Amino acid sequence: MNIIGPDALVFGVDDVAACAQYLTDYGLKPVGKGRFEALDGTYIAIAPRGDPSLPADLGTASMLRKTIYGCADQATVDAIAQELLKDREVKKLADGSIESVDDLGFALGFQVTVRKPLQLAAETVNAPGAKPQRGPNLLGVDEKSDPKPRSLSHVVYFVPDYAKSEAFYVKRLGFVVTDRFLGVGPFLRPAGTTDHHTLFMIQTPPQMKGCEHFTFHLGGPTELMLAGSRFVAKGYESFWGPGRHKFGSNWFWYFNSPLGCHVEYDADMDLHDEAWTAREAPMGADASQLFLFQHREKWAPGGPPPPGAKGH
Ligand SMILES: [Fe+2]
Repeated sequence: MNIIGPDALVFGVDDVAACAQYLTDYGLKPVGKGRFEALDGTYIAIAPRGDPSLPADLGTASMLRKTIYGCADQATVDAIAQELLKDREVKKLADGSIESVDDLGFALGFQVTVRKPLQLAAETVNAPGAKPQRGPNLLGVDEKSDPKPRSLSHVVYFVPDYAKSEAFYVKRLGFVVTDRFLGVGPFLRPAGTTDHHTLFMIQTPPQMKGCEHFTFHLGGPTELMLAGSRFVAKGYESFWGPGRHKFGSNWFWYFNSPLGCHVEYDADMDLHDEAWTAREAPMGADASQLFLFQHREKWAPGGPPPPGAKGH
């Protein structure tokens, strides 16, 4: 199953205007019909909670209504339809995509991917002993730069039975387990990507079933820090980060949102292929991050000592 990754997430929300403002401030581009796109065309779609065109909700507070996967070609979409028709309904929608559900009731869509190939440079680093990534007179900091989310990276589900869910994605859709938190859930990637994970699951009580967070990739850690700092300055509330995860090595910064889930900025994730052997670790603060920062407003030395300084 040549699934590349999530093309889109669809939410049924209470406050459409607040969500639209949030997604725009996050850096996605409003393109109409409730869609907010990253640079490669992957997107978040929002509609009012009661919109009859949305798949059924999960019966919890979660506002996630559908995860749409991008496939390499129509043959993959057809193969998925054939596989899922063995034991569940598969609808063919007018836009050519198919719609069904996973084993825990999360609505899924599959389509030929909307992802456009990107030709963008990654952030560069200079270090003694290594060939410069930025030569003379090329600056590392550009205050005018406006980092934009490049691509929908991953979604994290709260699930009441991760083993059942994992079996569905691995056996029916060909996902691979990259790493796992013991007793909590697996980091999964589909066959068409080398990203460490596009789907992670966290075992929770059934009433929490839904979306914990989603995130888009940025161009590197400086972009993540800049985008996150500007998001804070706009008044949005940091939930966790900035920091760097261990599994995946991705930089992270999570925020509260009006979409009923957290929303993350992500950068510099590890890539893996079939040569990789999955790691396992108990979940906890040590396993979840290499380091964690606390955001502070800009400051400079000079003037009176900072509040709380000793000896003055
Ligand atoms: Fe994440």
